[in-house]
Amino acid sequence: MAKFIVEQSGALRGEVEVSGSKNAVLPILAATLLSEGICEISDVPRLRDVEVMCKILRSMGASVTEDWDNHTITVEIDKVTTDEVPYELVKRMRASIFVMGPLLARTGKARIALPGGCSIGDRPIDLHNKGLRTLGAKIDMDMGLVEATSKKLKGALVYLDFPSVGATENIMMAATLAEGTTMIENAAEEPEIVDLANFLNKMGAKIKGAGTDNIRIEGVTCLHGTKHAVIPDRIETGTFMIAAAITRGDILIKNCVPDHVKPIIAKLMECGATVNDEVEGLRVRGDIKKLIATDIKTMPYPGFPTDMQALFMALLSTVDGASAIIETVFENRFMHAAELSRMGANIKVDGRTAIVPGKNPLVGAQVISTDLRAGAALVLAGLVAKGKTEISEIYHIERGYDSFSEKLISLGAKITRVED
Ligand code: UD1
Repeated sequence: MAKFIVEQSGALRGEVEVSGSKNAVLPILAATLLSEGICEISDVPRLRDVEVMCKILRSMGASVTEDWDNHTITVEIDKVTTDEVPYELVKRMRASIFVMGPLLARTGKARIALPGGCSIGDRPIDLHNKGLRTLGAKIDMDMGLVEATSKKLKGALVYLDFPSVGATENIMMAATLAEGTTMIENAAEEPEIVDLANFLNKMGAKIKGAGTDNIRIEGVTCLHGTKHAVIPDRIETGTFMIAAAITRGDILIKNCVPDHVKPIIAKLMECGATVNDEVEGLRVRGDIKKLIATDIKTMPYPGFPTDMQALFMALLSTVDGASAIIETVFENRFMHAAELSRMGANIKVDGRTAIVPGKNPLVGAQVISTDLRAGAALVLAGLVAKGKTEISEIYHIERGYDSFSEKLISLGAKITRVED
């Protein structure tokens, strides 16, 4: 398995271009299962998770063309040849569950092994199941498999107990071909949901209200092919914003949507970083003022994103003063705290709260990338730690960042990828 060796690198400076959003493209690719026409998706990030989703689509009879010179994927599914997604693929990516809604809507049946993915908590699928049951599906969970069947889905009022991103997307996709109108209340409001709704509407769906907590889907009889460009990745944007702040550098981040990263901008400015919305992108500087502590509480969008929590923890380890981080979205998302503490951060975790004392000089150590964003946080911490940091299990990072080390190296980072 590959590792990153990261050396103390000084201030990162220069320009970087953000790739398309991982969390937008995965449900969009799954949604192509709803159409008999050709779908051309552009601005696709080159990621392990995208490769897995393409394999899943191929395993169901799709013809999938990956054009990585142009970051474009074309999918055509004349006929869905199987209603089962095998465990070998599902165990590699939790987002495999996104095919459940589209498959059920198109073929009346979906059999999916229970998903794997990052180790950040139980990550149940009860809200996906509850929503699809409300639309009339029969759902059985047995022996690590979820089986959903329905003759014809029927529009209904679905109330989500928690605004789950995945459940909102799965239910929204299934409802596009249901008979009648579906309302999703307490829906997730993430920009990736808006992107999926825009894609589905281009395919002929009738969705209103995506981006609010109340989404209305009027069912149609069929969907057609379309072209769509994926939105920029707001978490990759945030990652480079932290890279600028933690290294006390100056980075111009291109191809990003400042509106999607408002809580990240606000928190970085509270810490003393300078963030300017320039014509070409967002410029983040950590070299103007002294950086200080701030408190963070993760929330569903538009609150502070849980996917930025580990990255902020790395930054807060390097500033003046103590910070508290409260994680409200996932129940077990502090595994990186122990790894950062191995580098000298001395973080104390109690339940869903982590106290970061700050100002401890970080030192290079052997650490493990426990999940995707934790891995990215350790790389950024390694850039400012004295000596060398060896990060193993970097396949997590490669699941979700396109050319991560290459982009950082272009900004002055000293990173080497070695095969173990
Ligand atoms: C998505 C993102 C992930 C991000 C997360 C929260 C993708 C591919 N992944 O994950 O990067 O961290 O949103 O912003 O888009 N829950 C239930 N029952 C369910 C579903 C979820 O209890 O049926 C719980 C989860 O355990 C978790 C919380 O709801 O505690 C949020 O999960 P959810 O919003 O569904 O996250 P994902 O869609 O898995």
